[in-house]
Amino acid sequence: MFLRGGAEMPEPGEEAQGMERSRINEILREGDAFIRSFGYVMPPFAYFAPDEMQRRRHELAAIVDGRLGWDITDYGQGRFDALGLFLFTVRNGMAEDLARGRGMLYAEKIMISRKDQLSPMHRHVVKAEDIINRGGGSLVLELFTSDAAGDPDADAEVSVMTDGVPRTLPAGGLLKLDPGESVTLLPGVWHAFWAEGADVLIGEVSTVNDDLTDNVFREPIGRFSTIEEDEAPLHLLVSDYDRLLTP
Ligand SMILES: [Fe+2]
Repeated sequence: MFLRGGAEMPEPGEEAQGMERSRINEILREGDAFIRSFGYVMPPFAYFAPDEMQRRRHELAAIVDGRLGWDITDYGQGRFDALGLFLFTVRNGMAEDLARGRGMLYAEKIMISRKDQLSPMHRHVVKAEDIINRGGGSLVLELFTSDAAGDPDADAEVSVMTDGVPRTLPAGGLLKLDPGESVTLLPGVWHAFWAEGADVLIGEVSTVNDDLTDNVFREPIGRFSTIEEDEAPLHLLVSDYDRLLTP
């Protein structure tokens, strides 16, 4: 199946491939430089070495347990340039606060979508998110509303707020955000996105975020990469915390 954004999606049961750690380290360095080029600087914990994370594991419980930090994913498909996303979770609240209705109910991410690199079609169950073009090229989002079964509705129009202005698009319509523009995606709005013209720095302001449970993908893909350890990690990814840090 061919989708917009230039990526071929996997067939069900297709073998997932890993990403080499050396490639992740390279993407991390490039991504950090790209983010800094817009004057956005990451918080100190972005630059902790893996052994420092381990040494300060208890002190850093809010970072590790809140899954803050680097998150570079190829959705388990081994084709990062065509299907992937660079994310860094800057802050994240607590699901328990959400249940209580007060407290830290919000989260923030900074992301990079490369030119023609697809973030595949998905929706969230709990999370509402503002996706913000913070600079670079144009960010294009393909949108659907959910049908009664929760699947993308192939016929119904989809309505979203864009910087305080309502927009209604046909099913599968494309919303183009130029630098400075944003869209609010409420739970149930299906979305896929990619950068057009040049790489895009994306901001995300959202409800408390749980990437382990709150992403529903249209195609049978994973949320995280499997990693081939061909060199030492420069910094740990959130998906490394459970595997590489001793409690
Ligand atoms: Fe999303």
